[in-house]
Amino acid sequence: MTLFSPLALRDVTLPNRIGVSPMCMYASSDGLVTDFHVAHLGRFALGGAGLVIAEATAVHPHGRISPFDAGLWSDEQIPGWRRIAALVSAAGAVPGVQLGHAGRRAAVREPWRAGAPLNAEDAATGSGPWPLVAPSALAAGPGHTVPAALTTEQISRSVQDWHDAATRAVTAGFRFVELHGAHGYLLHSFLSPVSNRRSDDYGGSAENRLRYPLEVVAAVRAAIGEGIPLSFRVSAVDGAEGGAGIDETVEVARRLADAGVDLIDTSSGGITTDRAVDTRIRRGFSFHADFSRRIRAEVGVPTATVGLIVDPEQASRLITHGDADLVLLGRQVLDDPNWPHHARIALGDDSHDSWDVRFGSALGPRARTLARLASSGESPLSRFGV
Ligand SMILES: Cc1cc2nc3c(=O)[nH]c(=O)nc-3n(C[C@H](O)[C@H](O)[C@H](O)COP(=O)(O)O)c2cc1C
Repeated sequence: MTLFSPLALRDVTLPNRIGVSPMCMYASSDGLVTDFHVAHLGRFALGGAGLVIAEATAVHPHGRISPFDAGLWSDEQIPGWRRIAALVSAAGAVPGVQLGHAGRRAAVREPWRAGAPLNAEDAATGSGPWPLVAPSALAAGPGHTVPAALTTEQISRSVQDWHDAATRAVTAGFRFVELHGAHGYLLHSFLSPVSNRRSDDYGGSAENRLRYPLEVVAAVRAAIGEGIPLSFRVSAVDGAEGGAGIDETVEVARRLADAGVDLIDTSSGGITTDRAVDTRIRRGFSFHADFSRRIRAEVGVPTATVGLIVDPEQASRLITHGDADLVLLGRQVLDDPNWPHHARIALGDDSHDSWDVRFGSALGPRARTLARLASSGESPLSRFGV
């Protein structure tokens, strides 16, 4: 098994084990995707990724992180996504989407505006804020609005929102669905003892804290059918004092796998925005690989790993050493959308066969010309006497 071996999940086969991690672009209005998303996601598919996972896409307008998030809470949002899913498929990659609800971390500004909670200034431009919901009426951190604790009836309606958004995702042509169960958003906030202080069937014991996520998994599976793979992004460690650690997450992963989740995408942190109690892990290279390795080994479920994966040999070894079944790249592919093609060359395959033929048929001969010039000692600066 190598970085370029296919990965079969249910009826879908990823052509290689390099995926694009979901990344919010804050480029939508009313949850609609734009030409920006077409270019942004299309270039990754043309760049050779086997899987392109579109950004956290809200299942309800109040589940948007910011007013500029993409959504699938309405049928009107399907055509935009359909165009993207078709483009990604045509380029040879599997189109995926991450469905999300930001819960108590919703209604904030874009990261380049410090991710600050929306206020009257934003309201004056028609951009929120809106009411927040969570398992318990506990704010995500200082300055955040206190959310309303969901009633059991609201929980049932919310499960239906995930179902309906998943149905729309399949209608749009997505062939891989991920649930955002990390980073302090709604699903994670039910799982974590930091944010879930309920005393009913949805809180308290680990079993009860799993109830809402498992209901969402069942509803989404019913919507997407048996053939489409379902991934769940976990925060392997909550990243806050008193939060869940990897031991608890291994058990959560086991329950999710038993419930029909096909891939555990292993991330971390986010349960609090309060720096005073935040215990986030150190961001070194492959910083979630120990977690994805442990879940994979102990539960026997395929895992994805993400976090500062930047180098082809690094990505290759994460797969061949059994740290994960799939590597996901975020910022590295923002920097170089053709990274998967470049990784293939760096790892010894310079055939250019993986490129779209329009590019590959031009770049292959050019690579041979460049190699010939290099061996003859000619450089791009030769004409300047350098
Ligand atoms: C601009 C940006 C947006 C992101 N949006 C999301 C998101 O929508 N959903 C999610 O689960 N993670 C999101 N993340 C986290 C990434 O998916 C990824 O896990 C993280 O950036 C670490 O990987 P990297 O070191 O390859 O960037 C985002 C990261 C960036 C940089």
